[in-house]
Amino acid sequence: MDPALELLFYVNGRKVIEKNVNPETMLLPYLRKNLRLTGTKYGCGGGGCGACTVMISQYDPITKRIRHYPANACLTPICSLYGAAITTVEGIGSTKTRIHPVQERIAKCHGTQCGFCTPGMVMSIYTLLRNHPEPTLDQLMEALGGNLCRCTGYRPIIDTCKTFSKTFGCCQGKENGTCCLDQGINGLPELEEGNKTNSKLFSEEEFLPLDPTQELIFPPELMIMAEKQPPKTRVFHGDRMTWISPVTLKELLEAKFKYPQAPIVMGNTSVGPEMKFKGVFHPVIISPDRIKELNIVNHSCNGLTLGAGLSLAQVKDILADMVQKLPEENTKTYHALLKHLRTLAGSQIRNMASLGGHIVSRHLDSDLNPLLAVGNCTLNLLSKEGKRQIPLNEKFLSKDPSADLKPQEILISVNIPYSSKWEFVSAFRQAQRQQNALAIVNSGMRVLFGEGDGIIRELSILYGGVGPTIISAKNSCQKLIGRPWSEEMLDTACRLILEEVSLPGSAPGGKVEFKRTLIISFLFKFYLEVLQILKRMDPGHYPSLANNYESALEDLHSRHHWSTLQYQNVDPKQLPRDPIGRPIMHLSGIKHATGEAIYCDDMPAVDRELFLTFVTSSRAHAKIVSIDLSEALSLPGVVDIMTADHLQDVNSFSTETLLATDEVFCVGQLVCAVIADTEIQARRAAKQVKIVYQDVEPLILTIEDAIRHNSFFKPERKLEYGNIDKAFKVVDQIVEGEIHIGGQEHFYMETQSMLVVPKGEDQEIDVYVSTQSPKYIQDVVASVLKVPANKVMCHVRRVGGAFGGKVLKTSTMAAITALAASKHGRAVRCVLERGEDMLITGGRNPYFAKYKVGFMNDGRILALDMEHYNNGGSSLDESLWVIEMGLLKMDNAYKFANLRCRGWACRTNLPSNTALRGFGFPQAALITESCIVEVAAKCGLSPEKVRMINMYKEIDQTPYKQEINAKNLSQCWKECMAKSSFSVRRAAVEKFNAENYWKKKGLAMVPLKYPVGVGSVAFAQAAALVHIYLDGSALVTHGGIEMGQGVHTKMIQVASRELRMPMSNVHLRGTSTETVPNTNISGGSVVADLNGLAVKDACQTLLKRLEPIISKNPQGTWKDWAQAAFDESISLSAIGFFRGYESHMNWEKGEGHPFEYFVYGAACSEVEVDCLTGDHKNIRTDIVMDVGYSINPALDIGQVEGAFIQGMGLYTIEELKYSPQGVLYTRGPNQYKIPAICDIPTELHISFLPPSEKSNTLYSSKGLGESGVFLGCSVFFAIRDAVSAARQERGLSGPLKLNSPLTPERIRMACEDKFTKMIPRDEPGSFVPWNVHI
Ligand SMILES: Cc1cc2nc3c(=O)[nH]c(=O)nc-3n(C[C@H](O)[C@H](O)[C@H](O)COP(=O)(O)OP(=O)(O)OC[C@H]3O[C@@H](n4cnc5c(N)ncnc54)[C@H](O)[C@@H]3O)c2cc1C
Ligand code: FES
Ligand code: FES
Repeated sequence: MDPALELLFYVNGRKVIEKNVNPETMLLPYLRKNLRLTGTKYGCGGGGCGACTVMISQYDPITKRIRHYPANACLTPICSLYGAAITTVEGIGSTKTRIHPVQERIAKCHGTQCGFCTPGMVMSIYTLLRNHPEPTLDQLMEALGGNLCRCTGYRPIIDTCKTFSKTFGCCQGKENGTCCLDQGINGLPELEEGNKTNSKLFSEEEFLPLDPTQELIFPPELMIMAEKQPPKTRVFHGDRMTWISPVTLKELLEAKFKYPQAPIVMGNTSVGPEMKFKGVFHPVIISPDRIKELNIVNHSCNGLTLGAGLSLAQVKDILADMVQKLPEENTKTYHALLKHLRTLAGSQIRNMASLGGHIVSRHLDSDLNPLLAVGNCTLNLLSKEGKRQIPLNEKFLSKDPSADLKPQEILISVNIPYSSKWEFVSAFRQAQRQQNALAIVNSGMRVLFGEGDGIIRELSILYGGVGPTIISAKNSCQKLIGRPWSEEMLDTACRLILEEVSLPGSAPGGKVEFKRTLIISFLFKFYLEVLQILKRMDPGHYPSLANNYESALEDLHSRHHWSTLQYQNVDPKQLPRDPIGRPIMHLSGIKHATGEAIYCDDMPAVDRELFLTFVTSSRAHAKIVSIDLSEALSLPGVVDIMTADHLQDVNSFSTETLLATDEVFCVGQLVCAVIADTEIQARRAAKQVKIVYQDVEPLILTIEDAIRHNSFFKPERKLEYGNIDKAFKVVDQIVEGEIHIGGQEHFYMETQSMLVVPKGEDQEIDVYVSTQSPKYIQDVVASVLKVPANKVMCHVRRVGGAFGGKVLKTSTMAAITALAASKHGRAVRCVLERGEDMLITGGRNPYFAKYKVGFMNDGRILALDMEHYNNGGSSLDESLWVIEMGLLKMDNAYKFANLRCRGWACRTNLPSNTALRGFGFPQAALITESCIVEVAAKCGLSPEKVRMINMYKEIDQTPYKQEINAKNLSQCWKECMAKSSFSVRRAAVEKFNAENYWKKKGLAMVPLKYPVGVGSVAFAQAAALVHIYLDGSALVTHGGIEMGQGVHTKMIQVASRELRMPMSNVHLRGTSTETVPNTNISGGSVVADLNGLAVKDACQTLLKRLEPIISKNPQGTWKDWAQAAFDESISLSAIGFFRGYESHMNWEKGEGHPFEYFVYGAACSEVEVDCLTGDHKNIRTDIVMDVGYSINPALDIGQVEGAFIQGMGLYTIEELKYSPQGVLYTRGPNQYKIPAICDIPTELHISFLPPSEKSNTLYSSKGLGESGVFLGCSVFFAIRDAVSAARQERGLSGPLKLNSPLTPERIRMACEDKFTKMIPRDEPGSFVPWNVHI
């Protein structure tokens, strides 16, 4: 075969030759399916999550250097890898050989929970260490900017990083001349004397050293190949696509001449997502490979010329070097570019994406193009016809054909001129999240003054994000030429620009008023920035900035990450081998880190396996007029398409319908299931299914729509206590209000996955599925297949995150997949893509509440009347139960003497919402806390004071008349106050706010009372099965699902204590309906509680049986005892059972005992807000929790902080967006932002209250899975505090209404000022908004 047609690269030191390469194949599926390297995970497929990170190494024969860089395998076409060496997580270490220090440390620092993100994290850290064996913490944080984790809250991952960083040490710089560790500066939590408490969760001493000489070397064959092989264009032909890789410039130009429409693919970070998500197809792709002219770096007397093929990461390094070497006045454009290059995407994308690709893509939100345009850059183009230069200006950016590349032209390089003395360039951007998020609005601004005269000679301002392309405020700038740099100029500039860069009310992307405000807020920042420099350059001539304006230009507080933890040591008398109470590493931690942990889709293909994908409704409420399957069925590989007609009488279970019948009730509803030989074939066919709809009225999307149409799921729920009407008559004041709380996407990193395997005998069927409820799946599958449950076995080894989202919808999909498998007698796999998952599965219920609060002037709340509404979506799912839990938990930490709360689950035309960590509590308690804050404002008291006044005191009664002892609640509150140095920092915040006009700080503390229990005895039963084998080893199974919370680790701890057996002797394989039947859903914070009691019971049964044997031979081993038991015919297997906590609730009477116990806590957070952009930074959080006797402090701290960060996301950045037609826009990490590593508080202090009382729970522990979510609202209220400070200073005294999440948009628009007053506003009803608030 012609060697040009062979693709050759190395993976983990092994040569791979692909003879029939399909150019459409990306590296991720190739690794996972072709090479069976399943450590690299699929999380989003679009470069946004980092789960697929690998290291790519390439040798450059010219510089003789090897470049190692992190890349997203999901966007890397395998054809682009000729001659490259790929390293995956399997290649750096394994439990079979030797684990790599990165793998070891991330596991031992407890940086893995569900473990799905871990291989990506490992590879990002590993790649950095290959390039910088002793990185700074900044470099490490930057390296992880493109990796998302939904479980850990990142703190333990940062801890892992710190172990590699030599430079780490508290703030790493003496800010204001004092180190942050100096006593008193930050009100450090003081660790208790003696050995009662502990602050370490791992011991660094046992870590393997990092030895760079042990790493895989770059394959010498590839080096020789690069040096010796004559450069020759490589062409790969697939069924539909041809890939051309020219290796010389001449060949590149020829290829482009021959295929002028073919894109030049460099990083594929623009073309790739377009092809994947927007359905664009290119039959020919040209991918230049190592063409030196595209990688030039030339310095001339006018500026820098950078090759179009350089990656953005390389550009960043080159510019960083230039600003060090050149005089400051020449590098202003470079400084501005660097500012954006630090936050643009994540490290993987910056290393893949090219400068040329970025420029030529001309995305409307490109960060660099506005700057390159204002910096007067020029583009050097080349084609077979010759060279030419064009300016990178607004015409080019608006894709005006007269200023564009010709189809045959290539961008070779870019000239970026030096700036001059009186020239100033600035970069601005505001995104939903500080890093790895496309800008909502960005801008490049440049002004050139006459020599020392302060008169504008040139001015250019460009904006991204505000139109279909980058927009220039050219005419406004023209009109300002000749003006001095003054406030009058600024005022005129704002007015002119608002007129020129106008944005219609219905503009795509929404946030219209925010965008308008940013346009001029950025301008104001630029004005101040330039004024400050002018003042420095010519102090006599220019006015100083007012002192309280200076911080407007400073970056938000960014000190180095620092955390402290404090938990109780075990009793010194506890035996050393007893693991209860010790910070044991997650049982699968190392396997997560080596990629050996197997998730559902990592299971190898079964013989003749099929793939199933869904066709979902594109309409929110419509009749299905017809479904035409003919074209889809005719496609190659398609085996079947199932519709409701095929399902007939098994098309529903409980309240759910499997496939839509003649009417659809939401976008994303399952309509058909396409089954084909391969995933690609199934997905292609799904696109060809033609459904004709006829819209039906009414279309109900929002809660307000539902109220208007009286569209509720029955029944209404009510909780009443005291005499509310009477109380309202005696109170001093009454406030009434409303609040909206947005929904939340689960964003488990592993999307919904299942594999159903018919066994071919006795109708048996195995279901491998990522679920929290195998028993439910078993029931549903058995019922739709019409077989007894004993024929259906459901197995779950582990789940890559679930958070409540892997129960109901999972069972619908599993049922359909099982039907397909049963019908065809073949195994069927179904794995959702991220976009499908987000579209189909719903999430946390959005809430809307109306409240009326009656209170005394001293802050005592005497009467609270509330109405809760949640947006349930189109089917009942768990929405009513969410309402019930919301009502039962809405009192949070407060005793309201007179209370009435009513709740409704609204039926709307959205995908059904469901359980999500906290289950109604995070929404209900936020409503109550908002009331508290309003009362405080009315009474002129601090919210903390009002919280304290109304808090439960010791022995008390809840509104449903359950007794509580709230002693530990006040203890947590007091400790949190003390540890956070609340009053000192309150004063510091006030001082800061008095001194700074455009930046404000906020501080808030919230208490937590989280009731734990599932509301019925039956729902809390649990079972376990423990076997002891004759070699003395034990196998434990129980009904709980391992979804990252470490339940299996805790269960082994329990077995180890009870059997007095080392943990290493106990094994746990996973959960299966075959071993433990009739299990309850894993959720509600109680999985370890309940199953632990069952495991304990089983172990005790065994021990009791074996006691006579053990006492005969107390020095014997488990092997001896097991053999002796066998010899005496004593069973070595036992089941354990826990009946469940006593609980009940009578809704008629509004009374009951629904919960077993309460988790108490408190959190204090401090933030800094940029009033001009709406940006905020979490400066510090202190959390104190009462967790009882922690079974495993490492896992428990992990649950608290992971939940806290998830809550912070809920209340501050996570925002679902729906079109007015009910279509979800936010279908991946690029549109929906969960907290990333940049979002976590710079300082985080977590401490557990010393355990005080023994209880009926497992070793007196408490379940912690959900409670911490709510504590995230301390950040919400800290922001609110900062915003109110800004409003007060601006003389705005009216009530402050803030909905959740408090996004940059809401923060900015609440900080009303002259700029928000200046923007045009659209009359409601005069336009169709881009999105609706559901
Ligand atoms: C997850 C993610 C996050 C992102 N975040 C940001 C962000 O925060 N800010 C931001 O500004 N951008 C962001 N981007 C966009 C990113 O900057 C661009 O996708 C990237 O710069 C494009 O470069 P590329 O080499 O991958 O282009 P490719 O996809 O390889 O090519 C893009 C286009 O450029 C053309 N082209 C490439 N090179 C040449 C050449 N030499 N001559 C002529 N035509 C050429 C191609 O024909 C093609 O049309 C993000 C992208 C992703 C996937
Ligand atoms: S799967 Fe590749 S970045 Fe998410
Ligand atoms: S551990 Fe990071 S996503 Fe679960």
